[in-house]
Amino acid sequence: MNNFTFYNPTKIVFGRGTVSQLGGLMEPYGKKVLLVYGGGSIKRNGLYDRVMEQLRSVGAEVHELSGVEPNPRLTSVHRGIEICREHGVEFILGVGGGSVIDAAKAIAAGVPYEGDVWDFYVRKARVQKALPLGAVLTLAATGTEMNGNSVITNWETREKRGAGSIHMYPKFSILDPELTFTVPTDQTANGIVDMMSHVFEQYFSQTMDTPLQERFCESILKTVIENGEIALREPDHYAARANLMLCATYALNGGMISVGVEDDWASHGIEHAISAFYDIAHGAGLSIVFPNWMKYVYRERIDRFVQFAVRVWGIDPAGKSDEEIALAGIEATRDYFTRIGAPATLGEVGIGREHLDEMAEHAVRFGPIGRFRKLEKDDVKAILEMAL
Ligand code: NZQ
Ligand code: ZN
Repeated sequence: MNNFTFYNPTKIVFGRGTVSQLGGLMEPYGKKVLLVYGGGSIKRNGLYDRVMEQLRSVGAEVHELSGVEPNPRLTSVHRGIEICREHGVEFILGVGGGSVIDAAKAIAAGVPYEGDVWDFYVRKARVQKALPLGAVLTLAATGTEMNGNSVITNWETREKRGAGSIHMYPKFSILDPELTFTVPTDQTANGIVDMMSHVFEQYFSQTMDTPLQERFCESILKTVIENGEIALREPDHYAARANLMLCATYALNGGMISVGVEDDWASHGIEHAISAFYDIAHGAGLSIVFPNWMKYVYRERIDRFVQFAVRVWGIDPAGKSDEEIALAGIEATRDYFTRIGAPATLGEVGIGREHLDEMAEHAVRFGPIGRFRKLEKDDVKAILEMAL
């Protein structure tokens, strides 16, 4: 195990009806609020009215940024920053999925910064301060509700990049599983793939002697696998939705499950490159990339892939070689993603080989990616070819 520091400042308020605590939670941070939300799901399911009631109950002056896109765009972030500066906004509230909350984080960091907020995403500057922000989460997937990451797309330059900072952790996040009952089937599946992928990025590691971290990862994966199928069959199954929500939050919350472990993140780099060019859902991209990444790298540490197959997927090792067990685990991953309706090939989401080279270039723009196995541009291209 490696040395580590772990610190996570986000307060989590979890459970049925917890939106009623919103007013009290945000009161310490000021009355001038920017409410950030997406394309209208919160209006259709009544959450908008409940949030407004809370904001009114504490006498907040509310400004709104609506229409934040899935794969949120820099142009929306710029609009949000302008509104904040014009009205002296003191607190940002994101109500929605990962895209909305990531945009809220970018706005929070962009307001006090003199340059262009995009600097944080292309490694020209680091976030030194941000307005305080809070979240009401409506989709279990990214973990953004309890981490300091934000992923934004600059559609003009065809770049999708992430930034991370301790200043972008939400002060609080309200996680009411009932708010996810209305998430459509495809987005529920995308969320399942995303949370599992976050675990994979931390589980497939070269770091030795980390049994607790490995078992944390395996427990989350098993819990997601079981509850994912229930939530897809019965969208308003409270326990399944609650378990998924908790798994997503634990899977990527500043590294709690992988303290002292060297993580990978190459598959995320490849997915971001794909959705920078094609605007596909993040989880859909990961469903295509991850099993192919696994096939490309598993020989680097076959023991970890054997453990994954046996402990997570229950593959019976009797009479099989390590190679066969490892491949059976990868196949089981692919089958599960397919069973829940997530795509397996780039062709299925309408992507051909036109931009393969540029996507590979995007993935390695700041140098080779991945730490389980370091990938150069040709490796990324090979994985994309496998995914066609
Ligand atoms: O825009 P609205 O109308 O709200 O609809 C959204 C959107 O169309 C809808 N939705 C959300 N909650 C709903 C709902 N529909 C009905 N009922 C509800 N309760 O779902 C659609 C997708 O929402 P989105 O926020 O885009 O999904 P997700 O949470 O998967 O976020 C994806 C974004 O997060 C980034 C991804 O790259 C992508 O840009 N990521 C952020 C990370 C982070 N900050 O830590 C890590 C991840 O690896 C990821 O990169
Ligand atoms: Zn992800």
